[in-house]
Amino acid sequence: MTTPWTYKNNTLIFDNIELETFAKKVPTPFYLYSSRQLLNNYQEFYHQALQNDLPAPLVCFALKSNPNLSLLKTLAKEGAGADIVSVGELRQALSAGIDPSKIVFSGVGKRDDEILEALMTGEQGIYSFNVESTEELDDIITQAKKAKRVARIAFRLNPRVNARTHKHISTGYKTHKFGILEEDILVSAEKYKDSPYLNFVGISVHIGSQLTCMEATVDALKAASSLSSKLSKIIGHPLEFLDVGGGLGVDYSPQDKEVLTTPKQYMAMIKDVLEKEMEELPQRIVFEPGRVISARAGMLVTKVIRKKFSDSHQFIIVDGGMNDFVRTSLYEAYHELMPGIKREGKEQMVDVVGPICETADCFAHQRKLTPLEKGDFLGVADTGAYGFSMASTYNMRRLPMEIVVDLEGNWEGQ
Ligand code: LLP
Repeated sequence: MTTPWTYKNNTLIFDNIELETFAKKVPTPFYLYSSRQLLNNYQEFYHQALQNDLPAPLVCFALKSNPNLSLLKTLAKEGAGADIVSVGELRQALSAGIDPSKIVFSGVGKRDDEILEALMTGEQGIYSFNVESTEELDDIITQAKKAKRVARIAFRLNPRVNARTHKHISTGYKTHKFGILEEDILVSAEKYKDSPYLNFVGISVHIGSQLTCMEATVDALKAASSLSSKLSKIIGHPLEFLDVGGGLGVDYSPQDKEVLTTPKQYMAMIKDVLEKEMEELPQRIVFEPGRVISARAGMLVTKVIRKKFSDSHQFIIVDGGMNDFVRTSLYEAYHELMPGIKREGKEQMVDVVGPICETADCFAHQRKLTPLEKGDFLGVADTGAYGFSMASTYNMRRLPMEIVVDLEGNWEGQ
């Protein structure tokens, strides 16, 4: 995967523009996004699905990773769909121009009003409600009666697999709140198969995020394939689609690079498993990627407030904090740190911390960086996914700004 950033003469360049050009005009901390990189990532993902002959691929970008309107418009123009989890995300997807017939709605806590609005959207409602409990089906029927519409339903399978990723973002195990166990899906299908308000069109399965090792994904796809034939028999027709979820990881660190599964390998794996496990491939394969499309399209730009020395520790205190970007605090995630200008001199071992009053407010612990001085800019790389979308005003701070470099290389505020 390429990056939108590179160094030229020790100066950090983002989308062919020096980082300092942005940082001198926009108050730090701010997010900087590359539309071009986002589009490349999307195109590569889609292209690999086509290359592997996966039928009529529909790539529903997971808005929760980055709901920036300008970025979504770029994806919408390219034909992307959306994976949403709230009415807020539904409205954002629609304002970006994403076709309702390309929207899938996941999440264990869809409210009645959210279900109703999704049903009333477009000519026929959204593409699919990815249903996470039998109880949710009852609520969908109630709202569908009200809307006088038929809801398109995919059962989200809980495949009882353990995706080896951070425990906060693993979702496919039987004790997790997500999805429905196979035996319960079969009972539900039997019970509701004749409902005039439900159209059973698919199965979805999503087992976690930042997945690098594919073992659990293979098991989940096998479970979905086996369910698919059982379900088709009950409802009396083949299912239209299989939604394989999102979750493909990116290489944040050099260690990640060693174990990474690329979109090319991912699509080949899906093709291989489905061909072996399914009697017949469904008409369409749906994907819900977030991170693999958006992470590398963004960088958080911060400024060094001051340095602090304590015993043998050197702290670089920057003006961005865990309220702006929480991944390093919440999941102890690794992100590359990139000085706007690489100064001459020996690399130093530092802790890069923010101004928030919590020890967890740390972008990097004991990292070797070229010397940094007060006023220097520092980029936190690969923060286009789960960056701004998880930002808060904790400690009564303002939300960071977002600057988008468009496909022509223009940006607002230049
Ligand atoms: N589909 C469903 C049903 C999901 O729950 C998610 C992510 C995705 C798709 C997209 O997953 P992705 O391709 O981006 O891995 N805040 C965490 C990640 C939380 C993921 C939640 N669900 C982080 O920063 O690592």
